[in-house]
Amino acid sequence: MRPQRIALVTGANQGIGFALVEGLAARLEATDLVLLTGRNPERVAAASERLNGTAQVEGRVLDVTDAKAVADLAAELQAQYGGVDIVISNAIGPLSPDRTQAEQADQFIAVANGGTAAVLRSFAPVLRPAGRLIVVASSLGTLDNLDAKVQPLFEDGRTLDQIEQAVEDWRQSIHAGTHADQGWPDWINIPSKVAQVAAVRAVAATRRTEDLANGTLIASVCPGLVDTRASRPWFDDFSQARSPDEAVQPILDLILTDHVDPSTYGELIRDGKVLPY
Ligand SMILES: NC(=O)c1ccc[n+]([C@@H]2O[C@H](COP(=O)([O-])OP(=O)(O)OC[C@H]3O[C@@H](n4cnc5c(N)ncnc54)[C@H](OP(=O)(O)O)[C@@H]3O)[C@@H](O)[C@H]2O)c1
Repeated sequence: MRPQRIALVTGANQGIGFALVEGLAARLEATDLVLLTGRNPERVAAASERLNGTAQVEGRVLDVTDAKAVADLAAELQAQYGGVDIVISNAIGPLSPDRTQAEQADQFIAVANGGTAAVLRSFAPVLRPAGRLIVVASSLGTLDNLDAKVQPLFEDGRTLDQIEQAVEDWRQSIHAGTHADQGWPDWINIPSKVAQVAAVRAVAATRRTEDLANGTLIASVCPGLVDTRASRPWFDDFSQARSPDEAVQPILDLILTDHVDPSTYGELIRDGKVLPY
C-alpha cells in the first residue's frame, strides 16, 4: 500500500537522529513511512532493526556528503510518492579534541554544511504542501557567536550560494592558517552551526509566502545539550544534559503540530521558542 506520509532523517543510526526516527515511528500512523538514513549500511540496518514503532521504518544508505546521492533520493521519492512530507537534516561527523581542528575540518564541514546545503537544495523542491524541512543546528548558530568581522557573511539577504562560498573560504583559511586573523574562532563547530542556520534562512526567504500559504515549515532547531557521541568529548558536566529521547520531543511537537506559527518560519527554534538570530 502506498504510504500516506513520508518522513526522512539523515544521520539517524545513533544519537538525536535515531531518537527522531523512533519518535516519528511512534507518533505517525501505520500507513506512514519513515526513512532512517545513514552513511554505513551495517549501522543503518542494525538501527532499523532496533525500532519498533507504529509507522513503517525503512533503512536507507545516504551519505550526505554525496550531493548526487541526496538529489537521487529526492528524485526517487518524488517519482515514487509524489514528494516527501517531513525531512530532517541532522547528520554530523565526529569531531575530536584530540586531533587538530584543521585535520578534521574538511570532513566535518562536508557533513554538516555540505550535507545541509544538499538537503535544502534537493528536498525543499519536493516537499509536499504542509511539509516540514528541519535542520538540526544549535544555539551556537546565532550570529552573535561570531566575531563582528565575519558576521556579515551570514547576514540575512545572502543567498545559499553565497553562504556556501563563505563556508568554502573559511575552510580554506583554516588550511592556510589565516582563519584566526580573519576573525574565525578555533572551534569549527561554531561557524559551521551559524552557516547551517544562515542556509536555512536563505532558502526560507525565497519561499516564505508560498510555504505559509500551504502550511509548510522550514526552520532550524536547537536540541539543547544532549548526551551523544558528538557532545561527549567537548563537555565535562552532563548533569543537565538531556537524553536523545527527551531532546527530540519539542522538535517532534514542532514538526507534528498542524498549524505553522508564521513567527517560527525560517527561524532557529529551541523548545518551541524562536532564538533571535
Ligand atoms: N549532542 C548535542 O549536545 C547537540 C547539541 C546541539 C546540537 N546538536 C546537533 O544535533 C545533530 C545530531 O547530533 P548528535 O549529537 O546526535 O550526533 P551523533 O550522535 O554523533 O550522531 C551523528 C549521526 O550522523 C551520522 N553521520 C556522520 N557522517 C555522516 C555522513 N557523511 N552522512 C550521513 N550521516 C552521517 C553518524 O553516522 P555514523 O554512526 O556512521 O558516524 C550518526 O548517525 C547535529 O547536527 C548536532 O550538531 C547536538
